[in-house]
Amino acid sequence: MSKYLMDQGGHDEAARMARNHTAVEIFRWLQEAGIKEGMRTLSVGPCNPTELYVIHEFTHQPVVGLELSLDRVRQGNESVVSKWNEERKKGLCPIVFVPGNVQDVLPFQGETFDAVVSFRVFEYLSDPITALTNMFRCLRPGGLCVVGDIDGYGSNHEGMPPDLEWTLALIFQTLEERGQFHPRIGRRLYRLFHECKFTDLCVAAEPYHLVAGTISPHEEQNWMQKFEAIRPVGEEILGTRTAYDEFVEDMIRFLRDERTFGYSMFFLVTGHRPTE
Ligand SMILES: C[S@@+](CC[C@H](N)C(=O)[O-])C[C@H]1O[C@@H](n2cnc3c(N)ncnc32)[C@H](O)[C@@H]1O
Repeated sequence: MSKYLMDQGGHDEAARMARNHTAVEIFRWLQEAGIKEGMRTLSVGPCNPTELYVIHEFTHQPVVGLELSLDRVRQGNESVVSKWNEERKKGLCPIVFVPGNVQDVLPFQGETFDAVVSFRVFEYLSDPITALTNMFRCLRPGGLCVVGDIDGYGSNHEGMPPDLEWTLALIFQTLEERGQFHPRIGRRLYRLFHECKFTDLCVAAEPYHLVAGTISPHEEQNWMQKFEAIRPVGEEILGTRTAYDEFVEDMIRFLRDERTFGYSMFFLVTGHRPTE
């Protein structure tokens, strides 16, 4: 089992991400970031092949996906191989998953890629500086780095009962202290890019979750999978399994309320490795 938080809930994470309309968002973010024809690109934490296919649509170059989960590396490569079977026989399969942790030494020669992208991964990293430094190192001079992530996850709800708000904040604070989840990573990205010596920085922002009224069944399922992933910390804070179950029930009741309003933001930061 990987140390990735969302692998702790017992659900199929690749299927969860596939249900999230990933392709449309990824397309928009790649366009905004300036990913173009000809760029050899590394994607950090693609989860399933969707992100890699979308990148390939832009670049028409081989795309590498660095993925922490060995299961998702295997599933991803199986799926890609069946899709590109004919091309692969001719040695042309343009998409490959490789196993690795972006916070460790990466399995690439330095200065290999024209672009490195990572979406919705930094929120789960305990050491984002090392991750970004590793991404810097595998870019050619002048290469483009793109990181997009959420800000304000679950913490901008109007009208949440104070006991729920307090418990949720304590759970997030504990996860953050343990380096498992960073609900406000989005606002930190710009400074991280500076610290890692990227230049020509740009930032774009868009609403991410925008909930006005009862959440959809799809969003409710997403929340339930997240509540299961954070159950160990929740039970630790609330003392018993029953108390945590009651907290989750109350949260779902609040999220189903037609008066509920909540939002989070998504920040997309780009920068270049200096040419000298
Ligand atoms: C929330 S999913 C994001 C998937 C995709 N990038 C997207 O935006 O739809 C996070 C993915 O990052 C991977 N991941 C988490 N930590 C990682 C690490 N340290 N190195 C490489 N991949 C990691 C997880 O295994 C998971 O597949």
